[in-house]
Amino acid sequence: MLALLTRPWVKPLLFVLCTVPAFWLVGAGLLNQLGANPAEALIRGLGDWTLRFLCLVLLVTPLRHHTGLVVLARWRRMLGLFVFFYASLHLLAYAWLDMGFDLAELLPDIIKRPFITVGMVAWLLLLALAATSFNRAIKALGARRWQQLHRAVYAVAGLGVLHFFWMRAGKQLFGEVAVYAAILGALLGWRLWRHLSVRARVPA
Ligand code: HEM
Repeated sequence: MLALLTRPWVKPLLFVLCTVPAFWLVGAGLLNQLGANPAEALIRGLGDWTLRFLCLVLLVTPLRHHTGLVVLARWRRMLGLFVFFYASLHLLAYAWLDMGFDLAELLPDIIKRPFITVGMVAWLLLLALAATSFNRAIKALGARRWQQLHRAVYAVAGLGVLHFFWMRAGKQLFGEVAVYAAILGALLGWRLWRHLSVRARVPA
C-alpha cells in the first residue's frame, strides 16, 4: 500500500488535489454559494486552508521517518509552496473584499489590529521561505544557512495559531483554535524530541 506513494503519478495527483480547495472556494464564491456573507466566508476559508497546509507540510518529516519513505521529502517543497499560495490568496481576498485595495485603509488596519499584524508577519516570513525555496537559493545561501532560515516555518506555525486565537478571542470561540494548536504543538514537539535525542546520542 505504502509503495503506491512512490509511483511517479502520485506527485502530480497530489498537486491537483492541493488546488481543489482554492477552486472550490473561489467557484462557490462566483456561484454565490458561500452563504450570507461570502467575503467573510472566502477570507476565513482561505485562512483555514493555510493552517491545514501548514499542518500537512510539518507532517512530512515525521511521516518519512516512521515509514522510511524517502520519496515523501520530494513533496515537502510543493506543500510548502501551497502554504504560501493559500496565505497569499487569503491576504489578497482580505485586501480586495474587505479593504477595496485601498492602501490608505489597508496599512493602518494591518498596524491597528494586532491579529492582522501577526498574520502579516507570518505572511512575510512565508514570502522569504517561498523566495528561497529553489535550488539556486540553496546553493547561494549554503545548505546550513538555508536550513537555519527555513526553521522560520516553526515561527509561522506559532504566529498562525496566535493570529487565529486572537481573532476568535473576542467571541471566546477557542474549540477549533485548540485543535490546530494541539496538532501543530505535537508536530513541533516531535521535532524537538528528535533533535534532543539525536544530540544525546552524539558523544561529547
Ligand atoms: C500564515 C499566515 C496566516 C494564517 C495561517 C492565517 C489563518 C487564518 C485563520 C485560520 C483565520 C480564521 C478562519 C476562521 O474563522 O475559520 C483567519 C482569519 C483572518 N485572517 Fe488570517 N492567516 C494568515 C495571514 C493573514 C494575513 C497576512 C492577513 C492580512 C493582512 C490576514 C487577515 C485575516 C482576516 C481579515 C481574517 C478574518 C477576520 C474576520 O473575519 O473577522 N491573515 N486567518
